[in-house]
Amino acid sequence: MKILMIVSEMDGIVKTGGLADFGAAMAEALVDRGHDVRVALPKYKDLSLWSKNPVPLYFNLNHFQRYGCLVHPVHLGSVAVRLIEHHDFFNRDGIYGDNNFSYPDNVLRYAFFCKAALEDCLKSDWIPDIVHCNDWQTSVAPYYLKEHYLDRPEFEGTRSLLTIHNGYFQGKEDRRWIDAIGIRPERFTHDLMEEYGLLNQLKCGIMYADAINAVSPGYARELLSPDTSHNLWPYLNSRKVSFQGILNGCDYSLWDPRTDPFLPHHFFSGDLTGKQRCKKALQKRMGLPEKSKNPLLGLVARLTAQKGFDYLIPALERLLYEDPPIQIVLLGSGEPEYGSRLHYLQRQYPQKMGFVNGYDNGLSHLIEAGSDFFMMPSLFEPCGLNQLYSLAYGTLPIVRETGGLKDTVVGFGKDSATGISFVSPDNDSCYNGLKQAISLYTENHPLYLEIQQRAMKQKFTWEKSAEEYEGLYRKMLKNCNRGEL
Ligand code: ADP
Ligand code: GLC
Repeated sequence: MKILMIVSEMDGIVKTGGLADFGAAMAEALVDRGHDVRVALPKYKDLSLWSKNPVPLYFNLNHFQRYGCLVHPVHLGSVAVRLIEHHDFFNRDGIYGDNNFSYPDNVLRYAFFCKAALEDCLKSDWIPDIVHCNDWQTSVAPYYLKEHYLDRPEFEGTRSLLTIHNGYFQGKEDRRWIDAIGIRPERFTHDLMEEYGLLNQLKCGIMYADAINAVSPGYARELLSPDTSHNLWPYLNSRKVSFQGILNGCDYSLWDPRTDPFLPHHFFSGDLTGKQRCKKALQKRMGLPEKSKNPLLGLVARLTAQKGFDYLIPALERLLYEDPPIQIVLLGSGEPEYGSRLHYLQRQYPQKMGFVNGYDNGLSHLIEAGSDFFMMPSLFEPCGLNQLYSLAYGTLPIVRETGGLKDTVVGFGKDSATGISFVSPDNDSCYNGLKQAISLYTENHPLYLEIQQRAMKQKFTWEKSAEEYEGLYRKMLKNCNRGEL
């Protein structure tokens, strides 16, 4: 199959979160299954990858406005990537925004990107069977495909899939943009993409894609119910197309404690001395005293409400105040309010807590390896990747039972436990979850070790996810009557 993956991030080129891991790993896993895959990605500022012979591309975004850009055909490993270069749109300091404000013309930037990705296919005579779109940034592509391209014989058999990685971000914009991005005014209706007078780009993708999926079965269910769907449930329920959850995977070539190049010491389930040494290295790096017997709780995350900081921070405050023998290590970047609250806490308890406000891939690997527990108490979590890395590194995840976390971590108390879980998104429940982890480690260490062994045996491969996506693609292609999957 020819698959065009349109995505705004790809690990190895540009990354702000798990979407990038998906972009890179899914494309590679599909190539490994023998598919002809192209990833279309904006050529953001200062990328280390480009082509010496980019191809010029000209196209209209609406009836009047003609745009030009350069397409760089490059490779990332075995994956063909088409980097779309447009100086004004993408040569900016940030990806989606600067100084915590989204760029005001994001709708135009990403609509342009979607159109360029499709035009590039035409121009290079490479017509995809599947256009695989991801999140709001690429949600206008299914509209373009249906309204601008499907009457062209080349695209007759092409189908579009929208994967929802994060339904909270919907790309809602003023309606004045619709002319600029070539949306016909008669399509700007509540049935299709309008929401209280605004253009809702994710809704547009949901209404126009031939099939839709979420990144875990749990999140797919949540997206269909009023209280957990970020208000997307009526749109998803109104579509009579395939809507399922396909769990993400873990790239074990990057996240393997036996070989991880970011680690000072290696380990595996049969010999965990390397993990103890990594703990020491982490304590040293974070300026904490080297205490091997104290449970160390780590966290790596975007600093945003999604990750549960509104109840995690109060739970940590209480825990640190009560002073059990523990250590906390946090790495994150994002909303300044959470950053300053964590800095404040760190200054109060410098012997117990380390916090790095920033983005640091190497340190994220060391935290996964050197911690005894990994905190992921998310308010919502479409899939989550860090809990998968934690399982592989024998670092028991402490999760809230939501979305992909519930699908991948079995909570303490069950025979097949692989971590700790709690249900309610509030201070007390989160605190109790942390306390449960600490007493497991300090009061019943043999059981901790037993759960750790089980955690390290878990496998969530991208190969399996790719196989499921392939099944879905086939189903989409077999179905000739669009919209009736
Ligand atoms: P999300 O995509 O919602 O941020 P995921 O768990 O799916 O959550 O993926 C997050 C990815 O981003 C992981 O690969 C994680 O290691 C990485 N990451 C997040 N924040 C940081 C950070 N501050 N430094 C390094 N890596 C980070
Ligand atoms: C989003 C979600 C995260 C998911 C990632 C990759 O960023 O927040 O849960 O793992 O996308 O699908």
